[in-house]
Amino acid sequence: MNKPKVFLTRRILEPALTMVMESCQADVWPDEIPPSHEKLLERVRGVAGLLCLLTDRIDAEVMQAAGTGLKVISNCAVGVDNVDVPAASRRGIPVGNTPGVLTEATADFTFALMMAAARQVVAGERQVRSGGWKTWSLDYLLGADFAGATLGLVGFGRIGRAVARRASGFGMRIIFTDPSPAASEPGLNAVQVELDTLLREADFVSLHTPLTAETRGLMNADAFAKMKPTAVLVNTSRGPVVDQAALYEALASKRIFAAALDVTVPEPLPTDSPLLTLENCIIAPHIASASWQTRREMSRMAAENLLAGLKGEHLPNCVNPEVYDGHGVSRAAH
Ligand code: GLV
Repeated sequence: MNKPKVFLTRRILEPALTMVMESCQADVWPDEIPPSHEKLLERVRGVAGLLCLLTDRIDAEVMQAAGTGLKVISNCAVGVDNVDVPAASRRGIPVGNTPGVLTEATADFTFALMMAAARQVVAGERQVRSGGWKTWSLDYLLGADFAGATLGLVGFGRIGRAVARRASGFGMRIIFTDPSPAASEPGLNAVQVELDTLLREADFVSLHTPLTAETRGLMNADAFAKMKPTAVLVNTSRGPVVDQAALYEALASKRIFAAALDVTVPEPLPTDSPLLTLENCIIAPHIASASWQTRREMSRMAAENLLAGLKGEHLPNCVNPEVYDGHGVSRAAH
């Protein structure tokens, strides 16, 4: 029997890559830079499976170009805002993602950014390199305390809760917003509040929402105006949740103390971005889940979703289970 044709928009990590290569006729995009949309449209023609990354825009045009044989889209990320999921659902195509395995790594990195921004780690390191470090003095590079401070988590899903568990070890008070009512976590003293309350009371605001129509531009000039002048903003969710022009104003005018972003608009952030002129802004290149084990696990889950979809089986992690009929078989597999 012929092996199914698949396109991988980038190399995934081993052993997942070998797993895919052995079961499929796989076309793997060889470059570090993702395929352009045009190239993507060319390469997906006639494939049964598509394994993509968050850098690839998988819209209805891509699904159309692949043709009616497309049985599965496997996104190697937990966020699926790069995939037009409703368009996939209309075609009966299941879309897979990689939840869970990146929770702890992302929460670790959120904390790393929060501490780096609050305690001026990057600004201090820059001073050491440039000779700006003259002596020890009492008011040199002062920053915010964690013990007793209030952490405001915008979004209290898997990653938000993992950040809360870390914060609780630091003696922080935790408040959060979440669209699901009473989304509490046993053993954590976390209190659900309205967004306005969170912005006014939090010393640290950390974003853990998916990118949706409701969360796009959520952190805008109005939101920054409500925050404390000593507050620190951390974003490890998706760039468009923050209005970057408004953030620039808030940081440049010291409306808020500092920010640390792992995600930006666009990605990569151009080196002439005004945000990069600010001492109180740290930007990381979207690496919150970039630990060895996490990326291996993400690759494995993405491969498993792909292979299950090709066999017409229920994806182990599917974001649009509505494509399955009562028998767990997707319409695309018929
Ligand atoms: C990373 O940002 C992911 O969504 O997995």
